[in-house]
Amino acid sequence: MPTIKIDGVDVEVEEGKTVLEACRDKGLDVPHYCYHPGLRPDGNCRMCILKVSTSRKLEASCMYPVSEGMEVETEGPEIEKGRKDVLEFMLANHPLDCPECDKAGECDLQNFTFQYRGGVSRFRENKVIKHTKDLGPNISIWGNRCIACTRCVRFEEEVSGEGSLTLINRGDHAVIDVFPGRPIDNPISMNVVDICPVGALISKDFLYQARVWFAKETESVCASCARGCNVKITVLDNEIKRMKPRHNSGVNSYWMCDEGRLNTKYVASHERVQRFKGSAEDILSNAKKIITEHGEGSFGIVTSTYQTIEELWLIKKLADAWKAPVGFLTREEGEKKAYPGITIEPDKTPNRRFAEKLFGKLEGVPSGCKGLLLINGIPDYPYPSELTKAAEAAEFLAISDILKSPLLALAQVVLPGRTWAEKEGTFMNIDGRVQRIRPALNAPPAAQEEISWLQECAETEKIASAEEVFAEAAQGVPALSDLNYSKLGNQGITANGI
Ligand code: FES
Repeated sequence: MPTIKIDGVDVEVEEGKTVLEACRDKGLDVPHYCYHPGLRPDGNCRMCILKVSTSRKLEASCMYPVSEGMEVETEGPEIEKGRKDVLEFMLANHPLDCPECDKAGECDLQNFTFQYRGGVSRFRENKVIKHTKDLGPNISIWGNRCIACTRCVRFEEEVSGEGSLTLINRGDHAVIDVFPGRPIDNPISMNVVDICPVGALISKDFLYQARVWFAKETESVCASCARGCNVKITVLDNEIKRMKPRHNSGVNSYWMCDEGRLNTKYVASHERVQRFKGSAEDILSNAKKIITEHGEGSFGIVTSTYQTIEELWLIKKLADAWKAPVGFLTREEGEKKAYPGITIEPDKTPNRRFAEKLFGKLEGVPSGCKGLLLINGIPDYPYPSELTKAAEAAEFLAISDILKSPLLALAQVVLPGRTWAEKEGTFMNIDGRVQRIRPALNAPPAAQEEISWLQECAETEKIASAEEVFAEAAQGVPALSDLNYSKLGNQGITANGI
């Protein structure tokens, strides 16, 4: 491990690292554009220039390897002047349209210009105008904002493997484009919008949706497949405006898939179940009555692998108390698609791994039940015909769901459900990693907190919070022992014995 000095402090650095990586490991944020930790370095923007004792000129730190005894300076008048000059070139043809740019508020060009140039420009010539156009179904480019850092090109080469983007033209005419007749359209294409350090590549879905400084971001986990990609949910006016990936080297690296990212519209759908009918007490009294009259197994529960660990734990308690058969709704679609750092799973539900740990082999819809409690969290899910038949044949039907369905008309009890973005809880991903989800927005006023009414049905003395229910589950499920919410933190922990 070479020892180097960074700003006068001795630092041990892993062999083979660059000066920029050494600085970042020590918590120093060196300004940069083209460098991205998930891509190979390219050394084209020159914003990361620093002083190193082994060179007489300023060096691009993202390409410069550390060597024993090297001395590095990250700040100083010469470095500041260098960064100012780099920015002057970048801004020469930039349209300065921050007031209408979606990246404003989280744009590195805006931030570093504010920091180093103080709004001063000497450019008096006519600006070069570059294209503004669609690049694919989900992505547009505002070419005038592009600084030609090629992060997006490298992502398409190294991660998606599609090579959909390229840099056309030279000098100050250089701009990103697709190949003629071949739009960028692959399952993880929208990551190029996240990694664009300026506002050149824009998500059509997020276009003009929010000024980010008014929005609230919540760290959570995507629920659209069993991978459980770590995400940030951006919410404004109680509406999800976008989802962006959050780094987790054990789950999704820096990336997420387009399907998961865009699968949030149902949360604000007019088809949400808005009215409740009956109560947990009605479910309990009817379950007891049916079991007394018709015996064990006459009251069944159907739930889904979209429910949280806490909900499944309570459902298991209820099922044990009522000796009720439990059936599961699951959703499998497409094929597994693996990319460097991220895999898209065919299981389109987030918690099957835990459901199998708790219930063993998952059974289908139980038949012949006189009473049925349906708890479904899978969005836009066409009920299987066996469920419809079982519900139609039941004397008593209680439903907790997030979107309307024809079965609601048959139910004596309807409890509007909450989506994954409206509740606290945990999921176990396909690799057995237990991760927290957090409420990013308020559920519709009529929505009933699943863990509360499930505890009412279970006749518990006091209604415990999600964290307390998890603590109880951790005592009953060996895979969760020793785990708690604070240990899970923001990155989750792999369960025991996985
Ligand atoms: Fe080093 Fe761009 S980040 S040259």
